[in-house]
Amino acid sequence: MTKDDPNGSPKGASTRAVITGVGHYVPEERLTNADFEKMVDTTDEWIRTRTGIRERRILKNGASSDLAAGAIGDLLKRRKMSAEEIDLIIVATITPDMFFPSTACIIQEKIGAKNAWGFDLSAACSGFVFALVTGAQFVQTGAYNKVIVVGVDKMSAITDYSDRANCILFGDAAAAVLLEPSERIPSGEKNGDYGILDYILHCDGSGGQALNMLGGGSLNPATHETVDKKMHYLYQDGKAVFKVAVVGMADVSYEIMRKNNLTGEDLDWLVPHQANKRIIDATANRMELDSSKVMLNIDRYGNTTAATIPLCLSEYFQSGKLKKGQTLVLSAFGAGYTWGAVLVRWAMDNCLDRSQNPGSKQISRE
Ligand code: UT7
Repeated sequence: MTKDDPNGSPKGASTRAVITGVGHYVPEERLTNADFEKMVDTTDEWIRTRTGIRERRILKNGASSDLAAGAIGDLLKRRKMSAEEIDLIIVATITPDMFFPSTACIIQEKIGAKNAWGFDLSAACSGFVFALVTGAQFVQTGAYNKVIVVGVDKMSAITDYSDRANCILFGDAAAAVLLEPSERIPSGEKNGDYGILDYILHCDGSGGQALNMLGGGSLNPATHETVDKKMHYLYQDGKAVFKVAVVGMADVSYEIMRKNNLTGEDLDWLVPHQANKRIIDATANRMELDSSKVMLNIDRYGNTTAATIPLCLSEYFQSGKLKKGQTLVLSAFGAGYTWGAVLVRWAMDNCLDRSQNPGSKQISRE
């Protein structure tokens, strides 16, 4: 954050943090709306029209660190980069493998990032946005050259599959980006034009009542009673959260556009947190953005919490839709409440995504 700009614009810094790698991992197992029709009192039609979701991925065996290691592995392979080059790993998650050690430490060991340190960051659905901005600070200050930011959640681990209003929403996934200083992107480019250009972040702790997981922490340590009362599952008052999320995400996305004198015409992509298609549509409307400029994969993955935004980035980049020089607003709203938006100019083209080996096996698939 800068003194004269409490919302923390990195404007004026000579070095920018630039996204120079991206990758993702989703588990094979699918849970479709038809599966939910057999589990709870719901219908495919209700789920599709109220949320936009058709199916989600579920990790049967393994933990968040396995999902994250898969996503970082995909990124490293595409960049033809060794894990030993990584300086720092920031893990956005609300489903860590365990309280401690941090999932960052577990991932560091799993991928062999011998020279990296790392930490977990908890901001629920805004986790990736908060972690991206945090990672950018370490790059802009010159402290580190290669920072991995991974958004991962195994939401199936904290979902009550008898709660029909909420169980239909969530899925498991991980996706990661690499941040490097602007000086390190290929010479001859106008380096200052790429990377994390601006951000606005918020939290409002009064929202904690509406979306939480009460059990297992220092307030309510695990007991038979906390298990009986289902306190180790996510709780959400969906209607209350919807009302705040729909305004919060739209407002912050509009705000970052206006702050930078941009209109919907100037933007190439809105990259929204994928919680509910109706929230995404309201955000795009507020920004006066055509729906063709909105990244969307909620239909195939549901809400994967910290993974939704980088999962969109990775899929759209790998399919060739996200292109070098495009201007993006990343936007999220989640538990806390937490919310925020990041303005990014995409720096990668195929020469930075060095995985053009048709014979290579892809970790992730649709
Ligand atoms: O990512 C973190 C932030 N989270 C969010 O942004 C999520 C915000 N909330 C939402 O997306 C929506 O509130 C939900 C998708 C969770 C629920 O949609 P809604 O349109 O707000 O439904 P509702 O809770 O107002 O319920 C409407 C009706 C109720 O029946 P009555 O009382 O009108 O008879 C519910 O009991 O739909 C019923 N209902 C269902 N019906 C079929 C609730 N869940 C289901 C279901 N299938 N799965």
